[in-house]
Amino acid sequence: MVKIAASLLAADFSCLYEETKKVEKEADSLHFDIMDGHFVPNITFGPQVVASLREKVNLPFEIHLMVENPGEWIIPFARAGGDLIIIHAETSHHLDRLITLIKKEGKRVGIALNPATSLCGLEYILSQLDLVLAMTVNPGFGAQDFLFSVLPKIKSLRRMAKEQGVSLEIEVDGGINQDTAGQAIKAGSSTLVAGTTIFDASEPKEAILRLKNT
Ligand code: DX5
Ligand code: ZN
Repeated sequence: MVKIAASLLAADFSCLYEETKKVEKEADSLHFDIMDGHFVPNITFGPQVVASLREKVNLPFEIHLMVENPGEWIIPFARAGGDLIIIHAETSHHLDRLITLIKKEGKRVGIALNPATSLCGLEYILSQLDLVLAMTVNPGFGAQDFLFSVLPKIKSLRRMAKEQGVSLEIEVDGGINQDTAGQAIKAGSSTLVAGTTIFDASEPKEAILRLKNT
């Protein structure tokens, strides 16, 4: 069954703790979109926000670093309680070095790709990764439309992982709803990030279960 990562970006920021409780039982992980106002045109959470929720929420935390200098933020977010650290391929000339740093912190490692970024180069590091995140919107904001043009890339990535014998988690992020989830799964994704579809629903739990049963 597909896994669901609930994205806090769409939650009510005035009561984040209560929002996490709405999804804690049904979601498979909590997704934190970390934005620095440079790599993406928006600003969100710092490590203190992650740390303040860590002891109170019984879910794995995934940290999606949409920042220009991920090397500076891996350790603070790992130590704040991130379980999976995702860095963008576009932000570093030294992905291998950052992967090593994340592993040294004892964390799972993911690489994110913007919609226009190709799989080129990933083939050489795939076996070191736990997850690849395919952005299906341009990062920075929630509630955008799913970019169907990314689906062939997800299919190619699933094929590449199979050819290498790597059991890779493929996560899709952006525009996931009842209409798009099925296509993302069919293309090869194993985890769906969803913000608006979950937190704008009158019953977030039901929204998660609906996505899982797609
Ligand atoms: C966008 C973020 C997403 C965002 C998805 O930059 O990476 O995680 O929360 O939001 P929805 O599900 O509303 O498209
Ligand atoms: Zn995200």
